[in-house]
Amino acid sequence: MRIDIISVIPELLESPLGHSIMKRAQAKGLLEVHTHQLRQWAVNEYGQVDDYQYGGGAGMVMMCEPLANAIESLSAQRHYDEVIYMTPDGPTLNQKTANTLSLKENLLLICGHYKGIDQRIRDHFVTMEISIGDYVLSGGELAAAVLVDAIGRLIPGVLGDETSALTDSFQDGLLAPPVYTRPADFRGWQVPAVLLSGDLKKVDEWRYEQALQRTESRRPDLQGDA
Ligand code: ADE
Repeated sequence: MRIDIISVIPELLESPLGHSIMKRAQAKGLLEVHTHQLRQWAVNEYGQVDDYQYGGGAGMVMMCEPLANAIESLSAQRHYDEVIYMTPDGPTLNQKTANTLSLKENLLLICGHYKGIDQRIRDHFVTMEISIGDYVLSGGELAAAVLVDAIGRLIPGVLGDETSALTDSFQDGLLAPPVYTRPADFRGWQVPAVLLSGDLKKVDEWRYEQALQRTESRRPDLQGDA
């Protein structure tokens, strides 16, 4: 899978995508991430990509021309399955969307800043909008990093143990059950005996029961979401 990201601060993406699982995914050739500085398509020699909003009001708006030129020039090199604008007023990202996007070949992500991007870009180029939650970030870069991470770890072969993404919270509409590691007794706090029993069927049943209980008490809205 290849993901291209248009941004005015591509440096913000370097660290989150340059370490750990995302680094490994790229090293293995399973994921390619390319960032593009929007100012390459600026309207003047000062690197301008934003302007005052029509109708007045505080805050700048990212202009049509640099964005349209960036999207068209990248789209001339490959077909994008989705052109995604990261925005707090889009539908909220969930595991189902991450699963769907992880099956795509090429994605183009647009990171907004200031008051956002000119509506005409959303109307004529953007095919999908994604928010990562009901709060406003300073720009779309951190949201894009979250999206790339959520998608990237689902690409087959990225996680060492293929089953570990399948047993994540949300994959089956349930939160994950509690987990424990050594020692079995820490300050008198015991690991549940069933996990030490060696009876895999009982362990599976216990985990399922715990997942159900957790979901019911913490996120009743999730039940049956898979
Ligand atoms: N840009 C600013 N805030 C955002 C959010 N919550 N989700 C996605 N993109 C954003």
